[in-house]
Amino acid sequence: MQIIIADKAGYCFGIENAMKMVEDTLANHQNQSIYTLGDISHNRQEMDRLIGRGVVKAETIDEIDHGCVIIRSHGVGKDVIEAAEAKGLEIVNATCPFVRAMQKKVEDYYKKGYQIVIVGNQEHPEVVGATGWCNNEAIVINDIKSVENLKKYDKICVVAQTTIIEANFNKITEALKSKADEIVIFNTICSATAERQAAAAETAKVVEYMIVIGGYHSSNTQKLLDICKTYCKNTCHIETAGELDPNEIKKYQTIGITAGASTPDWIVKEVTESMEENKLEQEQTQEVVQETEA
Ligand code: F3S
Repeated sequence: MQIIIADKAGYCFGIENAMKMVEDTLANHQNQSIYTLGDISHNRQEMDRLIGRGVVKAETIDEIDHGCVIIRSHGVGKDVIEAAEAKGLEIVNATCPFVRAMQKKVEDYYKKGYQIVIVGNQEHPEVVGATGWCNNEAIVINDIKSVENLKKYDKICVVAQTTIIEANFNKITEALKSKADEIVIFNTICSATAERQAAAAETAKVVEYMIVIGGYHSSNTQKLLDICKTYCKNTCHIETAGELDPNEIKKYQTIGITAGASTPDWIVKEVTESMEENKLEQEQTQEVVQETEA
């Protein structure tokens, strides 16, 4: 049996960076309360692990009145940072540097008098956070039809949610050009998602069975699953190694593995180790069969 782990499987740079900041905070704040605003990772097992180590999940800053608050990689609005400062909380800002760069464009161009347009999903935490850098006055657009309904502006500044599809961004920005006398466009899309998807597709094309590891509620894992199914009809989705089906695995000689952006390395490692054990068992069984035949 050959096991192929897709390139770029698991954490992207921004999430890896955020999780390292959580570990450092845990190590340096042993007698202090540590909070995260929302899920620092969209992975149930990883959140359970962190909660088990004393991290407390809060939904809003109102729930925290002392200690240290960790801002997740999606970032938050300026008002949230200011509220945390006003309460005297220690802030560990784990906003992904790519998301922070996008927030800065929003803030700078808002101050210069531009109407901010964010191409993305209105409910996504990254977009909610970004609009908080322009006094919640951004227009959020996810499809080309919404552009038609816009009035004309003097100056528009367009940025993208970091994880959206580039072709969609290009179509929308092209249409937006007719809606302003002056338009500045910043393609703030991060390539990590597209690269992980492309690598997963390449692996799915050459294996008989494909395993996608990640949270059942993680949208980027769901997208990976859809892509892998396109190229490998025997694709399964698991959250942990315990869900692997040994009887199914036995049927295949080449098996691929990929993982969503919020899947921690330790889960990917557990799955690959379990696969290696399966592989060993399979080889030993084959040897016994051969000996018996001889
Ligand atoms: Fe950052 Fe890109 Fe990941 S924006 S959080 S490195 S998907």
